[in-house]
Amino acid sequence: ATSSYTAPTGFASRTPPYAHLLANLREVNHILGKPLTLAEKILYSHLCNPAESLANANGSLANIRGQEYLKLSPDRVAMQDASAQMALLQFMTCGMPLTVVPASIHCDHLIVGKEGAETDLAASISTNKEVFDFLESCGAKYGIQFWGPGSGIIHQIVLENFSVPGLMMLGTDSHTPNAGGLGAIAIGVGGADAVDALTGTPWELKAPKVLGVKLTGHLSGWTSPKDVITHLAGLLTVRGGTGYIVEYFGEGVESLSCTGMATICNMGAEIGATTSTFPYQLAHKRYLEATHRAPIAAIVDQVHRDTGFLAADAGAQYDKVVEVNLSTLEPHVNGPFTPDLSTPISQFGAVSKAENWPQTVSAGLIGSCTNSSYQDMSRAAHLMQQAADAGLRPKIPFFVTPGSEQIRATIARDGLIDVFEGQGAIVLANACGPCIGQWDRTDIAKTSSESNAIFTSFNRNFRARNDGNRETMNFLTSPDMVTAMIYSGDMGFNPVTDSITKEDGTAFKFVPPHGDDLPGQGFIAGRAEFYPEAEPQPQPSVEVSVSPTSDRLQLLEPFPAWNGEELATSVLLKVEGKCTTDHISAAGVWLKYKGHLENISNNTLIGAVNKETGEVNTAYDLDGLAYGIPELMIKWKKEHRPWCVVAEHNYGEGSAREHAALSPKFLGGSMLLVKSFARIHETNLKKQGMLPLTFADETDYDRIQGGDVLATKDLADMIARDGNNGGVLTVTVTKRDGTQFDIQCKHTMSKDQVDFFKAGSAINHIGNLKKQ
Ligand code: F3S
Repeated sequence: ATSSYTAPTGFASRTPPYAHLLANLREVNHILGKPLTLAEKILYSHLCNPAESLANANGSLANIRGQEYLKLSPDRVAMQDASAQMALLQFMTCGMPLTVVPASIHCDHLIVGKEGAETDLAASISTNKEVFDFLESCGAKYGIQFWGPGSGIIHQIVLENFSVPGLMMLGTDSHTPNAGGLGAIAIGVGGADAVDALTGTPWELKAPKVLGVKLTGHLSGWTSPKDVITHLAGLLTVRGGTGYIVEYFGEGVESLSCTGMATICNMGAEIGATTSTFPYQLAHKRYLEATHRAPIAAIVDQVHRDTGFLAADAGAQYDKVVEVNLSTLEPHVNGPFTPDLSTPISQFGAVSKAENWPQTVSAGLIGSCTNSSYQDMSRAAHLMQQAADAGLRPKIPFFVTPGSEQIRATIARDGLIDVFEGQGAIVLANACGPCIGQWDRTDIAKTSSESNAIFTSFNRNFRARNDGNRETMNFLTSPDMVTAMIYSGDMGFNPVTDSITKEDGTAFKFVPPHGDDLPGQGFIAGRAEFYPEAEPQPQPSVEVSVSPTSDRLQLLEPFPAWNGEELATSVLLKVEGKCTTDHISAAGVWLKYKGHLENISNNTLIGAVNKETGEVNTAYDLDGLAYGIPELMIKWKKEHRPWCVVAEHNYGEGSAREHAALSPKFLGGSMLLVKSFARIHETNLKKQGMLPLTFADETDYDRIQGGDVLATKDLADMIARDGNNGGVLTVTVTKRDGTQFDIQCKHTMSKDQVDFFKAGSAINHIGNLKKQ
């Protein structure tokens, strides 16, 4: 009777179109005739036109994976407040009356963490009122669900409300893959990609390869889901997942909670993976039911029983397989300054001494989208209760960030917040706060030149990420490890084996943490004011106003179209080493200008290190005078001198921050030449009409200096051939003394991306199409 898998009443926008997806998948199976991984089943069932996208398969998946550009039709879009501003400003330029797919806006990034939820929230609402009002009015006008400040962190709310096995969604945040914990394919993108989905324009993705992670054994004791991914980050490095979807399988999956799987998928972003996902489990059904979606759970269950859609086909081949034995896995601590520097807790004390890291920890923080589930909170509270019963008090400040109002209200009802606050913890607003540089820390100045160490349950630890202080070393670990650590404060402390000496001289040792994956009495919603209308309808009469004098919001002017000529660009900066999107477009205080392209562009590349001088935020004009990097960009833009940046590996790793592509384009950049790109950033650059190139021979990096002119020779030819999905371009390097040599550079431009380049940006191109 339910073979059409019709969405139950009231759940229409939250149920994937299973009948359509299964019909698409039948066509895919017919074309490919091969067993598919789960990732491929979900992705390919969302193809706009399977026959077209898979035409070159010729009986082998190897001809698709890592080769073909897929045109996809995602089911949903989620946007956080910082990135939603630019996404919506771009959407507005397309002139559409409503979005084609359901979407949601989440106000989480702009909320400061300082004294505690109530005070911080009120202060943040007052500071950001103009932006929140803009987002709310956009939501009302276009029928987008608006989750206001204090309602929770985007990924936790998506998990609780929108993620469903088999769903495909885009999110304007790099940790969007969190939703893969509930069997979705959820991909972090820039605002321009989100506009594709919002306008019903096919969204393009190079078909990822599939990395299988086989989990054996089962989790127990001190080891938690976080340790699976912190361990994998060490194994695979920040580049190891580039071009891959990570798909978990094996009997070990059964010992994971749904929220634990979400933690693992969340931090797949730290290994550069396109996304991560898990096959359908009983834990998924239980989580859907617990989060008030029993009718969806019933359909999902039936879809899987009838068709096996929500797991890999028997015999499916992965491009690579890594195995992790959960039974022998130790807790890990990752950092500082990179998420792939992974140390098992048993070795951490010795390593920290050998590395000369601070020997005391200055603060502990738990929560964030990575680790703010009921299970995380209840395990942390279990440890704190043990310490409280033993008469211990934390030695260092401790902050707790619940992931959503539903989590906050439920842990308050169940007495967990009493346990935290009883031990002096500060419970912050349901928001990102200290995870994104919004920690208004009072104990250590931002400008302090002395190193300090913090333990967090977050996912990212680039310099200045949390408190704006470049000397703060953020060690990423499980909430369990953070919580135990606050009672010792000693970097050498290993709660698995060590005791803490109490004031009376006796020893106290924690027993391993225990927590429920779901609340025994069910979730409660909490304060009604934090919840939006379930199925908002567009209200075309709503005015979205942007003041011309605002310093927070600015309407967009289209970038100029390509003039049809080869590029001749001067090297403004040669970047040394790691250059993440935090280096290219810093967060923290700059978050406030996310909706104002001109103002935020004053942060462009201010964290980058000049290879030739070792200086940060310093570039040299042709006359040898030093400038701040954005200042020189502005100067060269005024002088009509197109410029480019040369850099090393994994350029643009980190977040999905599209300002890292928008700002350079806005300030007159036209080309990037690097050893390799992080996927999202490379796509973002193409969406803004930039030309991203990589060295065919990496040693050519050493031959280029600031002030050299890089001129393409066969760009027009590549454009005429619609990019050909990648190839080689010749670039002539002219040195300051006039000598010249040619180098070979690789590009990965598809036909659509060539169209973006020609139009000046993807948004210009979509706007042109809609006008036609
Ligand atoms: Fe927010 Fe940090 Fe997650 S910024 S979305 S809590 S990674």
